[in-house]
Amino acid sequence: MCGIVGYIGSQNALPLLLNGLHRLEYRGYDSAGVALWTDEGIWMQKAAGKIAELERILPAEPPQSTLGIGHTRWATHGEPNSVNAHPHCDCGRRIAVVHNGIIENFPLLRDELIRKGHTFQSQTDSEVLCHLFEEYLERGMELGEAVRQGLACVQGTYGLAIIDRDHPDTLVAARNGSPLVIGHGEEEFFLASDAAPLVGVIKSVTYLDDGELAVLTRSGMTVRTIENCPVDKHSEPIDLDLQQIEKSGYAHFMLKEIMEQPSTLADTLRGRLMWEEGTARLGGIEHDFESLLYARRIVLTACGTSWHSALIGEFMFEEMLGIPVEVEYASEFRYRNPIVNDDSVVIAISQSGETADTLAAIREAKRKRSKVYGICNVVGSSIARETDAGVYLHAGPEIGVASTKAFTSQVTVLALITLLLGRMRSISSARGRELVSELQAIPGKIRTILEQHEEIRQIAEIHQYVRNCLYLGRGYNYPVALEGALKLKEIAYVHAEGYPAAEIKHGPIALIDNQMPVVVIATRDSIYEKILSNIEEVRARSGRVIAIATEGDQEIKKHAQYVIYVPQTIEMLSPLLTIIPLQLFAYYMAILRNCDVDQPRNLAKSVTVE
Ligand code: AGP
Repeated sequence: MCGIVGYIGSQNALPLLLNGLHRLEYRGYDSAGVALWTDEGIWMQKAAGKIAELERILPAEPPQSTLGIGHTRWATHGEPNSVNAHPHCDCGRRIAVVHNGIIENFPLLRDELIRKGHTFQSQTDSEVLCHLFEEYLERGMELGEAVRQGLACVQGTYGLAIIDRDHPDTLVAARNGSPLVIGHGEEEFFLASDAAPLVGVIKSVTYLDDGELAVLTRSGMTVRTIENCPVDKHSEPIDLDLQQIEKSGYAHFMLKEIMEQPSTLADTLRGRLMWEEGTARLGGIEHDFESLLYARRIVLTACGTSWHSALIGEFMFEEMLGIPVEVEYASEFRYRNPIVNDDSVVIAISQSGETADTLAAIREAKRKRSKVYGICNVVGSSIARETDAGVYLHAGPEIGVASTKAFTSQVTVLALITLLLGRMRSISSARGRELVSELQAIPGKIRTILEQHEEIRQIAEIHQYVRNCLYLGRGYNYPVALEGALKLKEIAYVHAEGYPAAEIKHGPIALIDNQMPVVVIATRDSIYEKILSNIEEVRARSGRVIAIATEGDQEIKKHAQYVIYVPQTIEMLSPLLTIIPLQLFAYYMAILRNCDVDQPRNLAKSVTVE
């Protein structure tokens, strides 16, 4: 949940660390800090709040150092203040440690270390690591060995970087459950929680695996397991470019990511559609396909927005493939003895590929002998590596905390899987070709919706002071209602609920009055007439209706105060279009309410803690 960076080489480390932290700030922004090795000892600066706050308190002439670490925090244990900010130190201020993850047995370790005479400064779980390593360093061990032995006593997750006053030529890193990437330069190494800080800085990277510890010096890198076995690591070229991780002229990453959906969906589809055969090609699963093809049951598991795309996947698989599907919150999955076995297939969906709950669900499913497939955006992420096979989204880095383009790419990949499996089960080639053509047309159709951004901004302007909002949809658009409501909650801080439209009369209709905007997805599909009746139920209680309707539908204007049109498509793909106005509506509501769109309060991009 936090971001960590490190540098060892011959360049001035501080600007590199700060630049890296800025690129990781989406992972957490409760506090930030840096530590540098200097002749006078470890130099450290920490501040509550964003990295800008840290920069504000830096001295005009900070020390020049070629070895350092940095951290941007999403608080778990201890308030987000400057004392709890990382880096943390041992009693003798000999080492500085930055940590991403949770040390589960920290209360036990802390009590034991206090008994041994250690004094703690913060309320964090992370600080125990410093005192633990100090114990081993006092026995005269090298830094790498002290860290390794210390970690053998630790239960929990960590991505770690450590520097030591007495080792000016060593940066130690370790990983268990929280990602770490090592970038290789000329007699220098960079360290980061993900590849973003390394883009444009170095050309090749090595991904540490769980249970591995790296000792980096200016002349080389050695990697061992925590059990002390040497590991041969390979490096690979970094596959991102600067434009992908910059705002490219947009005011916010979220807006950029909403606007680039025509091209991200084209990337998700590239090389995967076969018009002649009316099917899809998905290299990542075709080599390991049997279990999916003959599955008697499919379980889709994910969190947040990815869980909403899983719901759409459920409707697709059940309607088109006739396979029973269940959608599980990954956060609940392993705590309720789910029924999965070698007859069922689990598909985990995650933008980041690092969500702790989703990873835990994958491990539980594998333990029960289920085949597990992944749908991920981040190449080389933990979920991508821990699943048996999978499909990448190819949506490019998603940096805005509110997920937008990853959602549409996830739904697209689920449609591709439906098409591929369907053509091997019951879908005719004609129907397959219809799906292929419609998928090909989606990027262009999204473009026409994006062109209406000013109209959508005006509707947001009218509603900017509302305190609550209802989102209604049916069938494939019920998950879109949930997703629209989530977007509004997380970035505009407006309480919003998504409901299947017909359900409101079983309770939520009591909330409706002339102050309640109700966003209704009312596209011309098999249940259009039914949704019109639901709109009337809202209007009869003076609710204000904002309808998302199909282009050319004049009838809807009689039922709704505001109408945003989307082009016609087949029902199964309509979420790819209907979500776009809801993303833009939430974005403009957040802007008008002066909210921090890319870094909403209390949130972080990837939730790597349970
Ligand atoms: C969505 O806007 C979120 N910020 C959040 O719900 C997110 O979708 C969830 O945490 C899952 O993340 P993942 O897709 O990276 O696993």
